[in-house]
Amino acid sequence: MTDQAPAAYAGPQRIVSGVQPTGDLHLGNYLGALIKFVRMQHEMETFIFVADLHALTEWQDPAKLKDQVREIAAAFLAVGVDPKIATIFAQSSVPAHAELAWIFNCVARLGWLDRMTQFKDKAGKHKERSSVGLYTYPVLQAADILVHKATHVPVGEDQRQHLELTRDIAAKFNHDFDQPGYFPLAEAVTQGPGARIMSLRDGKVKMSKSDPSDYSRINLTDDAEAISQKVRKARTDPEPLPDNLEDLKARPEAENLVGVYAALAGTTSEAVIKEFAGQGFGVFKPKLADLAVSVMGPIGAEMRRLMADKAEIDRILALGGEKARDTAAPTLAEVKKIVGYWGG
Ligand code: TRP
Repeated sequence: MTDQAPAAYAGPQRIVSGVQPTGDLHLGNYLGALIKFVRMQHEMETFIFVADLHALTEWQDPAKLKDQVREIAAAFLAVGVDPKIATIFAQSSVPAHAELAWIFNCVARLGWLDRMTQFKDKAGKHKERSSVGLYTYPVLQAADILVHKATHVPVGEDQRQHLELTRDIAAKFNHDFDQPGYFPLAEAVTQGPGARIMSLRDGKVKMSKSDPSDYSRINLTDDAEAISQKVRKARTDPEPLPDNLEDLKARPEAENLVGVYAALAGTTSEAVIKEFAGQGFGVFKPKLADLAVSVMGPIGAEMRRLMADKAEIDRILALGGEKARDTAAPTLAEVKKIVGYWGG
């Protein structure tokens, strides 16, 4: 035994990320994750998928699920993920994800999954009545990432813990089967100005698709009228904007709107504060509404265009599925050999 660190992964850098087809995407998803797909697709090979296997952890309407998948794919395309350089696919069209997930179910420990806060939040008080799939959801997520040997995973802050679990699974597999450096220890990419976008009704809770009030969020499919109305009605306080970030801290709604402005404009909260110091929300909100309409409006319009003729989306998903199956196949074949499967 030596106390040297195990060999590091030496393969190419690669991006994998997924989005569940379980509700309308909103500004928080856009700034927290989608915008990073667009930027990072130029930096390394990129795989972006619609997580329809994960969606089944809670029943979806079978008659609607395919359209829900298309709508997320439309969002990827509308924000600027380019199918000529990035692979866009539906998770269920690449069976290797589920196959590797089984093996990872045997790698992950119950104690690791017991710590997952997303499961605790979703299961609530009725852990015994939630599906086994919901419990093992993060193991499937690890398979999504590692079947393509991803090194970078752009996601919202809330996914950090799942990425830690993914690294634990990779390290234990590499160790237990004596394959140092086989799976990469993938990193979450969460930083960025839009890392934490809060509800427009309450600056202390995250913008969320499950919030009962539609005024709490700007949906990617909102039209210009809806976007500016939601910005105008956003909760604020009567004070003008301060000239420093420190004074914003005790004013979560104001801080959030400044952050949203900065993220949409591609600048920093400091710069926004400098520009608007001393101004009230009567001045700031219309400017923010214009900015939000100019960035989000075209995204919604493009999504509506794509959804009106589904053939283009379907063609892109079919091609992406083929490419993703091709990338996943050698990894799954190697893993089957490593663990000694008959069907390897
Ligand atoms: N759990 C992620 C979320 O809720 C979605 C997801 C599934 C994912 N598989 C993934 C994200 C793989 C990144 C990589 O946002």
